[in-house]
Amino acid sequence: MSFTLVRRAVPRVNRSELAVPGSQPKMMEKAAQSGADVVFLDLEDSVAPDDKVQARANIIKALNEHDFGASVVSVRINGLDTHYMYRDVIDLLEQAGERIDLIMIPKVGTPADVYAVDMMVTQIEEAKGRKKKIGFELIIETALGMQNVEAIAAASPRNESLHFGVADYAASTNARTTVIGGPNPDYVVLTDKDSDGNRQVHWGDMWHYAIARMVVAARANGLRPIDGPFGDIGDKDGYLAQARRAAVLGCEGKWAIHPSQIELANEAFNPPAKEVDRAKRILAAMKEAQAQGRGAVTLDGRMIDAASVRQAEVMVAKAKLIAGGKSKAKASGRGARA
Ligand code: GLV
Ligand code: MG
Repeated sequence: MSFTLVRRAVPRVNRSELAVPGSQPKMMEKAAQSGADVVFLDLEDSVAPDDKVQARANIIKALNEHDFGASVVSVRINGLDTHYMYRDVIDLLEQAGERIDLIMIPKVGTPADVYAVDMMVTQIEEAKGRKKKIGFELIIETALGMQNVEAIAAASPRNESLHFGVADYAASTNARTTVIGGPNPDYVVLTDKDSDGNRQVHWGDMWHYAIARMVVAARANGLRPIDGPFGDIGDKDGYLAQARRAAVLGCEGKWAIHPSQIELANEAFNPPAKEVDRAKRILAAMKEAQAQGRGAVTLDGRMIDAASVRQAEVMVAKAKLIAGGKSKAKASGRGARA
């Protein structure tokens, strides 16, 4: 291990993250009962400019009046390039009570963007004597943000998670797509001809690089990597396939832009029982091996060693966190050094 310690963010279950427009009070009321691991109330792109002020008031009312149960509650503020953002932060933290857990910052481009919001939040928390320390969710959804993702991930001790905003990222990088997430039939590999002269088309995942890069930056800084939206609400199989790819790469959850996607996300990001069981067997086998002075043994015909133990510990810890309930966040808000 490196001598540099990675400080882990507050551990929270973050499999499903439901997006709800702040301009839709009825939807916010329903979202409070949705059972999503995280609910984020939106002031940004799902709200038209003329509705921004009203949406802010709606969200403050919803946070004061609805019981969001065990869900972690986040609010996506407007971008730092708008004139709405400063008042989003001030009004939310001064008027929305203690129920808000996280602020989601969209289109983060540089660490200074995070620094600026941190400065405002810190002042308001202190001035108002707020008890709960607000955490940050950061959306990586521009070429600039992806270029600076490592520095952004390290920009504030409030940072908890990085999110891949596939729609804006596609726009920013000029990726050729007009849908939100999922594969593209032009992003394929053609095999050589077989003996009958036939060639096969293998679909590729055009988002692989972006998600994998974000996962590395998140994990190197103790943050949760979260996959963003999938726009085709009717395509459950497509959603699950995208979510499972993200889970395999290390993401902890995915957005649900419709309540029907909550269960799909929870399913995709629950570690499979079979894998948890194998992880427990690895830990048991290695404990026995160590007692006998051995550093590596075989289990089911496969070699396992100290790295297998670390993988198994991650899997078992995740299963435990999910089984133990929604959020382990303490009011003090910060995780321990790991
Ligand atoms: C989310 O904000 C996205 O742009 O995909
Ligand atoms: Mg976006």
